[in-house]
Amino acid sequence: MKALAPLIDFPAASQSTYLNTASVALMYRGCQQAIDDWNRDLAENGTVNFNEHAEQTIFDELHSSYARLLHATPEDIAVASSATEQLSSLAWAIMPPADSKILTTGIVFPTTIYPFARVARHTGAQIDFIPGDNGYTDPQKLLDAIDDQTSVVCLSHVEFGSGQQYDLRQFADVCHAQGALLIVDATQSAGAIPIDAPASGADIIIAAGYKWLCGPFGASVMYVAPHLQTSLDPGLIGFRSNKDIWKLDVEYQDYPDSAHRFEFSTMAYGCAVGLAKSVGYLANLGIEKIQTHNLMLADRLLEGLDALGAQIVSPRNTTERTSIISAKLPDTPSQEVVSYLGKANIVISPRRDFFRFSPHLYNSSDDIDTALAELNKLS
Ligand SMILES: Cc1ncc(COP(=O)(O)O)c(C=O)c1O
Repeated sequence: MKALAPLIDFPAASQSTYLNTASVALMYRGCQQAIDDWNRDLAENGTVNFNEHAEQTIFDELHSSYARLLHATPEDIAVASSATEQLSSLAWAIMPPADSKILTTGIVFPTTIYPFARVARHTGAQIDFIPGDNGYTDPQKLLDAIDDQTSVVCLSHVEFGSGQQYDLRQFADVCHAQGALLIVDATQSAGAIPIDAPASGADIIIAAGYKWLCGPFGASVMYVAPHLQTSLDPGLIGFRSNKDIWKLDVEYQDYPDSAHRFEFSTMAYGCAVGLAKSVGYLANLGIEKIQTHNLMLADRLLEGLDALGAQIVSPRNTTERTSIISAKLPDTPSQEVVSYLGKANIVISPRRDFFRFSPHLYNSSDDIDTALAELNKLS
């Protein structure tokens, strides 16, 4: 099976066997080019081209392309520099009250919950972690824990360590029946797994740009459901937080009636310009097609790992599986496995006590076979 994306779009894919998108993706060439062009223009021309109008409208293309990817509208999308930044602004905006409970899993990426933990220390809200078993969280246990004391459920759509995927609609329904908000970190899913934001029922969906969206560090995107767009008071505000960003009057504060109220400052704007290109590229290819491709690679990898007697940590059933495959070999420490493959120019990551593969659209079945052949020499 060939790579889904032509090499010309991801030239770096020829330089290594790169199976590490869950850590950092190879960047779409059109994205890299747009960032370089934008930075060069700014360096050489300052505000000659990047004038007030250009700065006011700089996120327009990313608003539109990401809205298209999520079946949302451009008004539903806010841009910032990182997922952590967006989660932080959001946690202060929601400010879960003292007598309430915030729920998440025991295996979630720290960033997904730390901003809420910080606010909880301030308000006295309580955080409950639903413990997992060997990297797996039983979704029913989490669903059962949601009650009328719950203010927020923070869920990583796909867990970074094991690739376990949750059914957003199921969580949204239970959250809303109990009066809780569902906050989704889609950093490990957006770009690889279809997301229909309005249909999912999620209240917020945040994703960093440098993983499955094939963009850069320095840009992230947040979907805000329409019912929250006029009520939330963002934790981070600045001159951009206003309807008229150029009024520049300290007495004036008037947030946009949209997700754009979460856009507050200057940033490495070129990163957002580049991410818009990656997102547009993925949307044109079709996320369903990307998902099918990635799962076929995952199947081939699983077959090879089984033959090697590896212990697979990732779920294998159709509703919870993704192309993030984490495993352990019986006799070789995972860090050693990662280093050994690294010497053969095969790039994966160690996570906790296992090693993690995460193939994406620029990988082919040859990449999987290359990695398995090398692993075979180890066992
Ligand atoms: C689920 C998840 N959320 C967020 C992040 C990091 O986000 P950012 O670097 O944009 O703050 C990661 C990074 O691995 C992640 O896996």
